[in-house]
Amino acid sequence: MGLFQSTSPVVPASPLAGKVRVTDDEFIQLRDFIYQQSGIFIAEARKYLIENRLNNRIRELNLKTFGEYYYYLRFDPHRRNELTKLFEVITTNETSFWRNPPQLKVFQDVVLTAEIEKIRANRGRRLRIWSAGCSTGEEPYTLAIILHEVLKSEINAWDIKITANDLSEAVLAAARKGVYTDYALRTTPKSIIDTYFIKDGTNYQVDPRLKRLISFGPVNLSDRMLLKRIERSNIVFCRNVIIYFDDEMKRQVIESFYDNLLPGGCMLIGHSESLHNISRAFKPEYHTGTIVYRKEA
Ligand SMILES: C[S@@+](CC[C@H](N)C(=O)[O-])C[C@H]1O[C@@H](n2cnc3c(N)ncnc32)[C@H](O)[C@@H]1O
Repeated sequence: MGLFQSTSPVVPASPLAGKVRVTDDEFIQLRDFIYQQSGIFIAEARKYLIENRLNNRIRELNLKTFGEYYYYLRFDPHRRNELTKLFEVITTNETSFWRNPPQLKVFQDVVLTAEIEKIRANRGRRLRIWSAGCSTGEEPYTLAIILHEVLKSEINAWDIKITANDLSEAVLAAARKGVYTDYALRTTPKSIIDTYFIKDGTNYQVDPRLKRLISFGPVNLSDRMLLKRIERSNIVFCRNVIIYFDDEMKRQVIESFYDNLLPGGCMLIGHSESLHNISRAFKPEYHTGTIVYRKEA
């Protein structure tokens, strides 16, 4: 069989006019490839997701089937570019500023305040936060705002870096730009919007003071070796990301966060995520609205 020979039908009639269908074999091939490349596991029940989201790519590349698309991803000279596009298409980038306010309150009042006290007590002024799976930037910018709120003018005397990573280059480009609609700010207190955003027509531009604290960059959380090279953190945020991984990948990523954390550091995950059956390395601290996962000091 030729490399790009068709194995699945093109459905011609309306309403599915021109829509390429994925066969069971093609789905398994692509699902396994996506898992190997990103750790994102697409269950059988979400086959429609592959079919719907990848139809445009297939059309734009003038391919006829998902089998052809798989071969393109594996062997075409432009495969690296296509992998970037694939990551854009398969990731779910839902996010917002001030997401999960009860958790952020615990972060501000308990976690961050104690961490700052600890650093001050050791005569230090260096703080590292890792926002893993930062999407379009709302999470790391929210953390930067909270740092400003807690440290106030003292922040200028601190050495602070928020490392913000994602798999998708497209979301990182939007994050670096830092321009948002009011929808992204729907749960953000008005006083915060007034202080940290510059209104630009109907959009909101983040204040350069926030941008200065953040370093955006591409990181694939399935790349264990790469994760070992990330600067060690006082606090790791990885919210609403491991939900897309299977248990094996969750274990691997959580172990990498544990190794990355400085002694006594802590990790925050999404409210629908849990470490049950994934890791016993952390000491859970129970607060109203969230669990803080602490590494021993
Ligand atoms: C639903 S968003 C969550 C954004 C933010 N953390 C929040 O809670 O609002 C999930 C993000 O994880 C990213 N992601 C998924 N798999 C990843 C991987 N293997 N490496 C890095 N980022 C990944 C996606 O691209 C997406 O932007």
